[in-house]
Amino acid sequence: MNEALNLYFDNAATSWPKPEAVYDAPGRQMRQAAGNPGRSGHTRTLEADRLLYKARETLAALINAPDPGRIVFALNATDALNIAIKGLLETGDHVLFTAMEHNSVLRPLGRLRQDGLISTTMIPCAKTGQPDLDYLESAYRENTRLLIVNHASNVTGSIAPLDRLIASAHGRKVIVLVDAAQTAGAIPIDVQGLNIDMLAFTGHKGLLGPTGTGGLYVRKGLDLKPLREGGTGSQSESDIHPLSMPERLEAGTLNSAGLAGLLEGVNYIQARGIESIQQEEQELRSYLWERLVELPGISLYGPHGGEAAVSVVSFTVGGADCGEIGHVLESAYGILTRTGLHCAPHAHQTIGTLPEGTVRLSPGPFTRKVDVDHLINALQEITGLMSG
Ligand code: ALA
Repeated sequence: MNEALNLYFDNAATSWPKPEAVYDAPGRQMRQAAGNPGRSGHTRTLEADRLLYKARETLAALINAPDPGRIVFALNATDALNIAIKGLLETGDHVLFTAMEHNSVLRPLGRLRQDGLISTTMIPCAKTGQPDLDYLESAYRENTRLLIVNHASNVTGSIAPLDRLIASAHGRKVIVLVDAAQTAGAIPIDVQGLNIDMLAFTGHKGLLGPTGTGGLYVRKGLDLKPLREGGTGSQSESDIHPLSMPERLEAGTLNSAGLAGLLEGVNYIQARGIESIQQEEQELRSYLWERLVELPGISLYGPHGGEAAVSVVSFTVGGADCGEIGHVLESAYGILTRTGLHCAPHAHQTIGTLPEGTVRLSPGPFTRKVDVDHLINALQEITGLMSG
């Protein structure tokens, strides 16, 4: 890799760099606290308990959840989505999902459908990624239990109209699960204001935390079946898993080292201001779009530069191989991107990029305008060689 540049445009896969405190906190947690939260009663255990409570409280505040006990820790967004989907659905249920969903939704649904337990309907989306609301209205059935919505697409950056989707679903008494893998930490989320029933998020993307962290918000009154059962440090005399939250949906020793890092990521976001991060990323995306459009033979996908979106732009160049473009960007210029299919096959079908996929650029909160200029210079050379 070209060490001179080392420009990272793959924050939608995992954010980098992280704030320094995120790197330091897991090491400090393991060296100094290191007790098993919820077990024993010694000082280290209590310290680990306090850390986890603080992490829950801070995450709850970030998404305006009324009670930190309704935040369940998970390994990542996929894990949280599995906890939600498999904890809610019963045999005979019907599920709606949008064409922008990730395999983290499609595959758990696919398994349940294949096993003959549920039926599903996909809501098509426009090329901009916006779901067809008229189609949605016609898709409800008597047994529709759940609508799953990708808050923002990891392929196009398009943001779903949550207010309209949730109003529609709640009008039919359908529960809404929001996949916030690409939005938590990147744009403000108000679970109470939006009446969100369940929100799945990962820690290692916009929240700037370590991998292996994430969570699920579950609104009060919604009781999921536990996906995993085991030790919780509570009601230890019983061989039935506790029903109280958050233990109900958590089993085994939690990732306190990782969560110490996640807490620092969220602290950083709160200090810098999530609205500022959103605005800066939106401006950078607009600039990136404007510069990309100038390149010969390029096709761009998703909302245009000035439109609301998260920090993701996908492109192709004529019939050129996306993997090859990504390879040249890295080997000749030290610029890192994601290429091919981004684990969201219906999203690619929607924008017309199956089976080759796209080159995806995802600037993050530490990407600078000058980094975009370097990227454009590199792409000018690459596309110039291709057309020459
Ligand atoms: N879902 C992640 C991505 O879009 C990994 O790259």
